[in-house]
Amino acid sequence: MIQRIGTTVRFNPTRIQENALELIKGGAKHILLFGGSRSGKTTVLVMAIVCRAWKYRRSRHLICRLRAKDAKSSVVGETLLPALNNIIGPDGYQYLRNDGLVRLSNGSEIWIGGLGDKEQADKILGHEYCTIYFNEISQLSYAAVTTAYSRLAMKVPGCRNLFLYDCNPGSPLHWAYKIFIKKQAFPSEEPLAKPELYASMLLNPADNKDNLDPDYISDILDALPEKQRARFRDGLWIKADGAIYDRFDEDMVLAPAALPHDFDRFAAGQDFGLNITNVKIGIKNNGIYVLEDYGSYNMTTKSFNEELLQRGWFSWNGEDIDFSVFCDPAGGERIQEITNGTKANNSVDAGIDYIVAKMERRQFFVSSKCTGVLSEIWDYSRDEDGEIIKVNDHFMDAMRYAIFSETQQGVIVL
Ligand SMILES: Nc1ncnc2c1ncn2[C@@H]1O[C@H](COP(=O)(O)OP(=O)(O)O)[C@@H](O)[C@H]1O
Ligand SMILES: [Mg+2]
Repeated sequence: MIQRIGTTVRFNPTRIQENALELIKGGAKHILLFGGSRSGKTTVLVMAIVCRAWKYRRSRHLICRLRAKDAKSSVVGETLLPALNNIIGPDGYQYLRNDGLVRLSNGSEIWIGGLGDKEQADKILGHEYCTIYFNEISQLSYAAVTTAYSRLAMKVPGCRNLFLYDCNPGSPLHWAYKIFIKKQAFPSEEPLAKPELYASMLLNPADNKDNLDPDYISDILDALPEKQRARFRDGLWIKADGAIYDRFDEDMVLAPAALPHDFDRFAAGQDFGLNITNVKIGIKNNGIYVLEDYGSYNMTTKSFNEELLQRGWFSWNGEDIDFSVFCDPAGGERIQEITNGTKANNSVDAGIDYIVAKMERRQFFVSSKCTGVLSEIWDYSRDEDGEIIKVNDHFMDAMRYAIFSETQQGVIVL
């Protein structure tokens, strides 16, 4: 129940939050809380971090999401400061807003930041931590999360270092579903070598009803359109509402051995930015096959291109191949740093329409190796005004550059 002490909300863990705290204290190293909105996920994870920071003197912890400003407004204001007041009291800490840092009187630190822009990322990833909490991972690329992994390296006696995650569920093709629910390694899809290190728990708004407006579930969540209701009330992993590639079907995912051996033509698409991605396709008769993808985080264009070459990007079935790499035309000078780089056709709507038409004709296939493309394909969506939601779209852009530029240059095969 909510009780007010001064201006502070009093947090008493709900029953399901008690279970989540037990899970965190268990043996897993990676813990994901997923489920509907306002079910108490963020609150309990922040409470766990404050307790750990208070218990282990001079320890450092990180809370991050895509945008630093969202982390500061929603996580700090609504959850972290009240939790600090509850657990430590207002005299036991100092919040340095501009630095995105809370200093505790025992020498511990809690950092808050965003993985979505370079300056922020360099700042928060310049330290070592005992806990890294990825808030709303449905918005984060797997490359960004794994880049942060190396920073969980602080040694504090008695403290077991942990990765914490939360999200509203994404699509069942999302990397978090593969790892935490299907317990498959990413991207190999082999069973996890140590599944006991990965734990997850479903929390739904009904579990937190004592702390919500009485009408929140009945008036707001129950009234949502079906797919949104399934995600935000019931915590189910399903295709996004307004999914642009709704016509994509799981039987269009092919094992590498089921792909054609040779193709009429090849092409690739390249997107730039903090999340840098490349998607390679093959075309045979009227079919488009997404063959390989590669994405990295906070890497220079030059190093990324070297990595592509290292991975044998310009070969197929052991044979050398030659093709254009269609690059985001906004990439400027970076295009020259990409082998065979040339400007892509960036007609967004026409490109999407073309790909959707290919899916409808069942002339579109994706290799199961392409975990970046698959992680995004059912979450790539439009908002209520029909605008594309520009989150988690790095592989979608690269894929569209490859497919649409190639078909505009070559023979149109609809
Ligand atoms: N144990 C608790 N005691 C009091 N209020 C809580 C508690 N857990 C959650 N809340 C409140 O419930 C609301 C939703 O919680 P939040 O952790 O933000 O949910 P989620 O991250 O699942 O969307 C917030 O207003 C939060 O302050
Ligand atoms: Mg939350």
